[in-house]
Amino acid sequence: MEKQIDVMISEEEVDAKVCELAEQISKDYAGKELHMVVILKGSVFFACELAKRITVPVTLDFMSVSSYGDGMVSAGKITVKKELDEDICGKNVLIVEDIVDSGNTLFHLKKLLLARNPETLKIVTLLDKPDRRTADVETDYCGFVIPDRFVVGYGLDWAQKYRNLPYVGVVQE
Ligand code: IMP
Ligand code: MG
Repeated sequence: MEKQIDVMISEEEVDAKVCELAEQISKDYAGKELHMVVILKGSVFFACELAKRITVPVTLDFMSVSSYGDGMVSAGKITVKKELDEDICGKNVLIVEDIVDSGNTLFHLKKLLLARNPETLKIVTLLDKPDRRTADVETDYCGFVIPDRFVVGYGLDWAQKYRNLPYVGVVQE
């Protein structure tokens, strides 16, 4: 059965925020090259929009990690389901996330990637749900801080659905 989705952040608001983030990132990495590590699958929509607006040279790689199944509850640790294709040693790495919830995914991912000796390692997330944070992790760039609701759209899914919505919405229970 299709669920009712309410708009939380409109397409226009997300687009404006992505431009803002890209401008800031372009300034901060001026004169450098940026290697974006995109976390599949949710962050792909955000990463593409962001990358198109960044003015320094960008390379991309993808990684798939899981802390969630098809439901709405987080597990305690992450599993790497798809490894990066390239070595990140000596690169200015920017992890691209769709949402930070418990922080568990980023906490473990950051540790894992730091051990590979990147030149720098930063995190950009489109959304942040700080109310549910249990792991000690901070982001360097954040689009929107949102309340503790389960959101879909702009790459985010509920049981793999709704990723293609052009806005961020809330599933009505
Ligand atoms: P964390 O490890 O608890 O921070 O969870 C991070 C991952 O859980 C995100 O990258 C999402 O894939 C997923 N997630 C967390 N909250 C939501 C949500 O509200 N909607 C969809 N996916 C979510
Ligand atoms: Mg994710």
